[in-house]
Amino acid sequence: MHIRLAMIVGVMFLKIELKINGKFRTAEVSASERLIDVLRQKFGLVSVKEGCGAGECGACTVIMDGEAVCSCVVPAFQADGHDILTVEGLEENGELDVIQQSFIDCDAVQCGFCTPGMIMSAKALLMKNPCPSREEIRTALAGNICRCTGYVQIIDAVETTAARIGVCRR
Ligand code: FES
Ligand code: FES
Repeated sequence: MHIRLAMIVGVMFLKIELKINGKFRTAEVSASERLIDVLRQKFGLVSVKEGCGAGECGACTVIMDGEAVCSCVVPAFQADGHDILTVEGLEENGELDVIQQSFIDCDAVQCGFCTPGMIMSAKALLMKNPCPSREEIRTALAGNICRCTGYVQIIDAVETTAARIGVCRR
């Protein structure tokens, strides 16, 4: 833990250090700030969307230490010392991650509001289980809500990613 306390005009701030998309970053956060606030407002990572703000819709999903989490319900100070991955951290050397390309190729990119969270939930699944069944994909994405369309292309995109990674031989 790297937390240090500071009082600024009567408000207690905590200094946290975390790794975001492979880089060590520090931030001063109040006790009421959430991880989503830090990512969007302090570091400009606007792929992280706020929908419900209550852990129900998955729009704010990021990967923390390999697990998909709703960043709207994680207090910022609890992210101290942890490793955070957002959509912005997926591309490498200007190349999209295979999961991003598969979402495009399978027409799974829909409104843009739910998509980043869907991608991060799917990425977390594939990091642990590189060859998931359609049922396992559905279960992993159960917390990611789309209000306007179906999930078929999204599940296709995750399956396609698994096939392209090359571990999956079905
Ligand atoms: S905005 Fe975080 S789960 Fe809906
Ligand atoms: S909420 Fe994103 S496509 Fe419906």
